[in-house]
Amino acid sequence: MRRRKQMRRFVLAALFATFAFAASASAENYPSRPITIIVPFAAGGPSDAMTRILAERMKITLGETLLVENVTGAGGSIGVGRAVRSAPDGYTISFGHLGTHVANGAIYKLGYDLVTDLEPVALLPSNPMIIVSKNAVPAKSLKEFLAWLKAQPKPPTAGTAGAGSGSHIAGLYFENITGIKLQYVPYRGTAPAMNDLVAGQIDLIVDQTSNSIAQVRAGNIRAYAVTDDKRVESAADIPTVDEAGLPGFHMTLWSGLWVPKDTPKEIVAKLNAAVVDALNDPAVRKQLENLGLQMPPKNELTPEALGAWQKAEIAKWWPMIRDANVKVD
Ligand code: MLT
Repeated sequence: MRRRKQMRRFVLAALFATFAFAASASAENYPSRPITIIVPFAAGGPSDAMTRILAERMKITLGETLLVENVTGAGGSIGVGRAVRSAPDGYTISFGHLGTHVANGAIYKLGYDLVTDLEPVALLPSNPMIIVSKNAVPAKSLKEFLAWLKAQPKPPTAGTAGAGSGSHIAGLYFENITGIKLQYVPYRGTAPAMNDLVAGQIDLIVDQTSNSIAQVRAGNIRAYAVTDDKRVESAADIPTVDEAGLPGFHMTLWSGLWVPKDTPKEIVAKLNAAVVDALNDPAVRKQLENLGLQMPPKNELTPEALGAWQKAEIAKWWPMIRDANVKVD
């Protein structure tokens, strides 16, 4: 009996040592094949655009291709769930932001925990939101636009990327601060929402600046203000909400990368280094800043900094989102 116990202990110890060796060996050789980044919104939107710009440069540091996979639906929570359930081997990364990795936790029964089921990798650039409307709206300023919205016989239609998305949270905040009720129209991302705004099918989006800026420049939609206390350098003609008559409506949509929990620390460190290299690359910075994106401060680029930031944002946003009593079918 005693010998059998000793043998079982020996086998367990050997197995553990084998797995530990295999994990460290895989971390040492990582990456040895292409990596997938799951973007939980439709191609062509702000999440997708930022990810593709960064992936192009990260592959130089990592020496392997980063493939962007758009897995959409339910405010981004389906794509995040796919990443959460993937192997913790560094070959599946979860792109997300304030909506997917904070707000969704207050809206959906996710089946995963946004903090304990993911390991933070790095904070990515952020941008303020921008209040934009279809061109047919006869308003030349935010004040005129708010008056137009209030004069509508039915709640104006606001495009979003689904309940819990950044554009939806921004809409809830907008309703809170203006008292104007909106009728949300959910899409699989704000790229398809933007197509309908340009076509005049919906009235407005409280959108990420990076998603609207090209259409504003082309004169295809109207911009009224950015949700910040300072103007966006690459769109300096657009006033801030403080200047335009909606003081204090400040909202920054930040993004980040995560991997499944239990991903080896060495792998997280390699991915973090690739993000830092990309954000230090002048050509990448220029591309992102031209979209109105702001780089994260250098001292906030560690995995720990993203983890702390996500927890702080959960504490900040969940009460307002829960008060909004968002119903998801
Ligand atoms: C959102 O939360 O509005 C998304 O970022 C939209 C998108 O990336 O398509």
